[in-house]
Amino acid sequence: MVNLAVLASGTGSLFAAMLEQKLPIRLMVTDRPCRALEIADEAGLPHVLLPRRFGKGFDRDAYTREMLALFREHHIGLVAMAGFMTVFTPRMFAEDAYRLKILNTHPSLLPSFKGDHAVKDAIVYGVKTSGCTIHWTTEELDAGPIIAQESVKVLPSDTVESLHERIKEVERQLYPALLKTLI
Ligand code: GAR
Repeated sequence: MVNLAVLASGTGSLFAAMLEQKLPIRLMVTDRPCRALEIADEAGLPHVLLPRRFGKGFDRDAYTREMLALFREHHIGLVAMAGFMTVFTPRMFAEDAYRLKILNTHPSLLPSFKGDHAVKDAIVYGVKTSGCTIHWTTEELDAGPIIAQESVKVLPSDTVESLHERIKEVERQLYPALLKTLI
């Protein structure tokens, strides 16, 4: 059985859905203090806060090296990003590292609306259908090969919060199921 690591930066609701599905999660890592860490703590799972700097002075490659060391220390074979907001440098995706071993989910139908404000950007643009995309992670933001997508209707009354919550409802089903199949 492959050892799974989950990376998060936020409320951890996707991570909680993965825990419910009894996936073989062996490590939870966050890049900032957040609720996901508490969920891991409550579940008695090994969890690490690997804090990063924001803005100027962030050494992305050094951060990637530290994360890689953590994965190796815990014998991680597959990684699921679940609302993790840091991009790694190419060393993470080398053949002898985690090339095609890190998945990500993103709250839009990629390649539309990449980046940190995907749900807001979709509403501002006026799309009538959005959704989520699960894809392999690469060093390029939200651009790796797509594995699965599911659409969600945008309602005229939607706010960023209401649309994002309906997208997350889909992600909480789709992502754990896909991981289960892959594992
Ligand atoms: C999810 O909607 C996920 O697609 C998004 O963060 C949310 C995490 O929800 N990821 C990104 O925006 C990555 N660019 P959660 O914190 O409730 O698990």
